[in-house]
Amino acid sequence: MKLSFLSRYSRSFLGLGLLLAAGLLSWLFLAYKPPAAWTENELRMISSLSLSSLPALPLDASNKASADPVAQELGHALFFDARLSANNQISCASCHKPELNFTDGLDKARAIGQSRRNTPSIVGLAYSPWLYWDGRRDSLWSQALSPLEDPREQASNRMAIARLVTQDPGYSQMYQSIFDELPDFSDRSRFPDNAGPGLKTAWYSAWEQMSKADQNLVNETFANVGKAIAAYERLLVPAPSKFDQYADALLDDQVEPGDIYSNDEIKGLRIFIGKGRCMECHNGPLFTNFEFHNTGIISYPGDLPDRGRVDGLREVRKNPFNCQGEYSDRDPSQCLELIHAREGIELIGAMKTPSLRNLAGTAPYMHKGQIKTLKESLEHYNKAPLAMIGHNETDSPLGLMSFELRQLEAFLMTLQAPLDIEQRWLQPPQ
Ligand code: HEC
Ligand code: HEC
Repeated sequence: MKLSFLSRYSRSFLGLGLLLAAGLLSWLFLAYKPPAAWTENELRMISSLSLSSLPALPLDASNKASADPVAQELGHALFFDARLSANNQISCASCHKPELNFTDGLDKARAIGQSRRNTPSIVGLAYSPWLYWDGRRDSLWSQALSPLEDPREQASNRMAIARLVTQDPGYSQMYQSIFDELPDFSDRSRFPDNAGPGLKTAWYSAWEQMSKADQNLVNETFANVGKAIAAYERLLVPAPSKFDQYADALLDDQVEPGDIYSNDEIKGLRIFIGKGRCMECHNGPLFTNFEFHNTGIISYPGDLPDRGRVDGLREVRKNPFNCQGEYSDRDPSQCLELIHAREGIELIGAMKTPSLRNLAGTAPYMHKGQIKTLKESLEHYNKAPLAMIGHNETDSPLGLMSFELRQLEAFLMTLQAPLDIEQRWLQPPQ
């Protein structure tokens, strides 16, 4: 009786053990079996992601100076110049740090105050029709004007910035060789020290007291400051990474791709283009469609859910520095992105798809830095939670096993590459 009880027990232990062993073996087999060969269709998708498929950067027709070498120099100096802030301590580079792929390592940016959102990288953005997480600007140059006057960021005003350009001998010389003559801002009764249509009431009333013609002179100079900064930012495009080497080797029969990628990296790439469905949004050589999507990211603690693109679209349409505005160099009827911008309720809570190149070192992730690591970002897609506002477009759980998430992460890590431009552009000018 006692014996048979024991043996019944040991039999079920044995059964359980066998089952576990079989499970472990099939797990090991799945995790470690060599990857299958790529199909024609997969090869086409991989090639579409390679930097070799990136077209040459088109000129920005709204900014005549977009490829002017002197504008690149002037923009470079302005990008690193902390005099463009209310306390002379904050430059664009204080938040967009070259050594962190032009991000800052914080959840929400902090300068003179705390910004609303996370600092995105600016590498490759010259290809983007929309700027900011919610796309509330439609050119690099009009974007560059906002942090200068944002009370949470550089907190300066357009009058002070226009005057700085006229007073700095190096700046005024470069400015006049790119744009027109600089206006004469020396008459303080017409052009006060500080003025701009921002929030500070004193600066605002000084601005309101200026004539329309004088406001226009300041606005033109201010817009040109943005155009020079944009010319510099256009130099920041990603360089080929290990992924691009692998993709190009696959398509070029002369080279052996197996030496470039590990099995895990190959399997991670297969998940990325396949059952992970990442390419629905992270597509093209910059790994973004530059479109707006709600991916159900939780709200930042204490903040209301972020409405994202619905508000951004309204704002870009009324921005005086947009493509159709009087400071743009483009014929308003040619501003097709703005004219045909996608609308609809699916834009509630939608954010611009970020690039996935060079993600190492740019944590935390998402529009308010809500997710601390890349691993957790992938777990987010695997769980596909309900959105706190609007509808999560990625709302069906992926069902990836933990080793598959690890492979996906291994693949993403192969998208790292230092920028391929002269070192001098990545530090303040001498
Ligand atoms: C206080 C930190 C801070 C400063 C200073 C700052 N930025 Fe930013 N930048 C941000 C944040 C935060 C965002 C995203 C804000 C949002 O989307 O609502 C951003 C967004 C951008 C974007 C759009 C990125 C994208 O993915 O569309 C560009 C381009 C950019 N900044 C360039 C600049 C330039 C040029 C300057 C200087 C004139 C500058 N920034 C100054 C924090 C900063
Ligand atoms: C429906 C479009 C869509 C799909 C599908 C999608 N993403 Fe995203 N991804 C986004 C958007 C939009 C964001 C920014 C979300 C936010 O901050 O609210 C983002 C953010 C990210 C980030 C954070 C990047 C950063 O700099 O903050 C990572 C990493 C990422 N996605 C990886 C992936 C991977 C891997 C997949 C496939 C498993 C995937 N995404 C599928 C649209 C998408």
